[in-house]
Amino acid sequence: MDVMPFQSVTTRAHPSLGLIKYWGKLKHADIANVPATTSIGVSLSSLSTTTTIKVSSQEQSQFILNGQAIPALFMRPMLEWLSTKLPDISYLKKPLSITSHNTFPTAAGLASSSSGIAALALGLSKYFRVSLTLQELSELARIGSGSACRSVFGGFTIWRANTLYAEQIPHSHWSDFRVIILAPYIEQKKISSRDAMTLSANTSPYYDTWVRYNNNLVEDAISAILQKDIEKLGVLIRKSYTAMHACSIAAVPSILYWKADSISLIEHAALLRSQGIPVWETMDAGPQVKLITISAYVDTICESVKRHFPNVWIQDNTIGEGCKVITNNNE
Ligand code: PMV
Repeated sequence: MDVMPFQSVTTRAHPSLGLIKYWGKLKHADIANVPATTSIGVSLSSLSTTTTIKVSSQEQSQFILNGQAIPALFMRPMLEWLSTKLPDISYLKKPLSITSHNTFPTAAGLASSSSGIAALALGLSKYFRVSLTLQELSELARIGSGSACRSVFGGFTIWRANTLYAEQIPHSHWSDFRVIILAPYIEQKKISSRDAMTLSANTSPYYDTWVRYNNNLVEDAISAILQKDIEKLGVLIRKSYTAMHACSIAAVPSILYWKADSISLIEHAALLRSQGIPVWETMDAGPQVKLITISAYVDTICESVKRHFPNVWIQDNTIGEGCKVITNNNE
């Protein structure tokens, strides 16, 4: 059956914030992004990536991210994986035009690769009319960027160490769970998470301890989510990110994503907590601080942050949905 010509597909995905962190890869000869740590993520409602894929009139495929052409090295292994599912791989050789937009700063530590690659994985599968299960879609997304395998799903997800796809945590609906992003600076990361993970694994004296310690947090974190116990979960979230950053800071050369304002925001969260407000923080590969709380406290927290840090960009998130198709002209 000839299914050409392809037209265009537009998809959208939300970033997955690591609550229990993915930081470190297992060495496999030819499988990309196999995690050393089990991670738990949550989808962020207010941030998203929208991606359109169509056939290109150019000689080569082009990937335009927020108006700029980028090398998109992640495309080749993703297309190779897809080729195993296609009856005729000649379609894969046709140049593509891919345009992608983030509603938030790219490569700044706000998990743009997770939403970007999840939207791309769904778009490619629809463009080439490959019918994938969510598990397979998560596996495809993982090849492009580890945390993207969690972004395929909405809600809370788990991606177990040494596995190739994430899963949604069953029965984990939590309607008043909130994430408030506080961004003191918006700038490109000085070191990508990929390079930072490799450097941590190769040089940090704490790497093995980090992996063991983080993996031991997982089962308690799942039960905290199922019990909707923000205090129990908050303590585990702090344990995970502080240990991840301790491991990275001890790498040689040291990887330090924190800025003076990040530390002030961490201290502010501690101050609010001491006043009885249930709020815990986490950080990723950037200076932003993400606060975890429940809906009843969002206004108080945001007002307090605005008063003390007038220049900080603040964004409130509920739990986002999984990746989805916006338009599909191939149907
Ligand atoms: O998906 P990557 O390769 O950009 O790694 C992201 C890792 C962290 O965001 C720092 C942690 C996590 O679990 O998402």
